[in-house]
Amino acid sequence: MLIMSDGYSSSKKTDDICQDVCAQHATRAALAMSRLRCILRGYDVKTYIVVFLILPLALFGLYLHVQKVTYFLRPLWDSPPRPFREIPHFYHENVSMETLCNLHGWKIRESPRRVFDAVLFSNEIDILRIRWNELYPYVTEFVLLESNSTFSGLPKPLIFATNRHKFKFIEPRLTYGVVGGRFKKGENPFVEEAYQRVALDQLLRRAGIEDDDLLIMSDVDEIPSAHTINLLRWCDDIPPVLHLQLRNFLYSFEYHIDNKSWRASVHIYRSGKTRYAHFRQADILLSDAGWHCSFCFRYIREFIFKMKAYSHNDRVRFSHFLNPKRIQDVICKGADLFDMLPEEYTFKEIIGKMGPIPRSYSAVYLPQYLLNNAEKYKYLLPGNCKRGSG
Ligand SMILES: *[C@@H]1O[C@H](CO)[C@@H](O)[C@H](O)[C@H]1NC(C)=O
Ligand SMILES: *[C@@H]1O[C@H](CO)[C@@H](O)[C@H](O)[C@H]1NC(C)=O
Ligand SMILES: *[C@@H]1O[C@H](CO)[C@@H](O)[C@H](O)[C@H]1NC(C)=O
Repeated sequence: MLIMSDGYSSSKKTDDICQDVCAQHATRAALAMSRLRCILRGYDVKTYIVVFLILPLALFGLYLHVQKVTYFLRPLWDSPPRPFREIPHFYHENVSMETLCNLHGWKIRESPRRVFDAVLFSNEIDILRIRWNELYPYVTEFVLLESNSTFSGLPKPLIFATNRHKFKFIEPRLTYGVVGGRFKKGENPFVEEAYQRVALDQLLRRAGIEDDDLLIMSDVDEIPSAHTINLLRWCDDIPPVLHLQLRNFLYSFEYHIDNKSWRASVHIYRSGKTRYAHFRQADILLSDAGWHCSFCFRYIREFIFKMKAYSHNDRVRFSHFLNPKRIQDVICKGADLFDMLPEEYTFKEIIGKMGPIPRSYSAVYLPQYLLNNAEKYKYLLPGNCKRGSG
């Protein structure tokens, strides 16, 4: 505004000079040209810079960052989901199961429930191993389904099938299934995802699940802690559907984002009623029940695969997002792979979470298999952000 008024005041002076100069010109075309020149002369250099440089750049910038702007303004167009009723979670390794059940207001059972752990597998081989080892003592049957299509409709090799020999310890308790992709071009990835979850329901019945069994519904990278599942299988009167609050990590356990992961859930199975889903299904949330490690991959190529494959693949807005060197830099900075703003519902939280995730140096409360095999899974622990190319 300041610049404009500046231009305006100086143009008054130049107008008079112009009139004299301009009148002397003969041809109409030349007259028009010099009029234009006169008008332009009325504005100073700063005005030109604003009109021809800064304004187009700002518009271009806005175009590149529409997503950021809409995310930043999210508190204006979106309201947070209904809050959960978070229930306290009591645990100490040296407290008896009966006392633990009682602390939650539940009673201990004579024998534990059977537990089914069902996942849709994409390419998270290392995280799968950590998950299955964590839950192994308490899970009756592991159910894994994989498809030859990603959610985004790209063909995918059967990665679990080719690595199955590495999971010998699970073999007697494994129900494995394959579902063929539908490869519909241009379809919303959430449709393929829903289709695969229905197939998982069928696989669960084939695995022999029955009423009153405990069913864990979660993504591979949402790992309930072993003691949480042990508690839920031993106690009576637990809620029939319970969400698990998990600690949220990104790239490795070095980057602890927050404690707000809630999508994993545990169900007391009811045939005909229980449907495998990954959305909100109840109001109760059990506090501090495990870990969610997103994009926790060993190789850069796995990051690239996941970025293209998952349901939010529209976030790959520019091809340079898939550049391996950029991905490595982003991981070591704790920045965002898709250059997005935090998805929060208040300005305070958005601003509070902007910029890289601070490093955590704590490896105190992590899956036991990870610490027992720290050398092999070094990249998941604090201080090891460098990834191999594979
Ligand atoms: C566990 O409890 C027993 C008996 O109450 C006690 O002797 C032992 O030191 C406790 N262990 C830990 C790790 O607290
Ligand atoms: C995917 O799997 C289905 C069923 O197993 C098969 O018929 C189909 O040819 C496969 N498609 C690709 C692209 O591998
Ligand atoms: C997550 O919860 C734990 C235990 O309640 C707490 O110590 C930690 O500071 C929390 N971390 C974040 C990032 O909120």
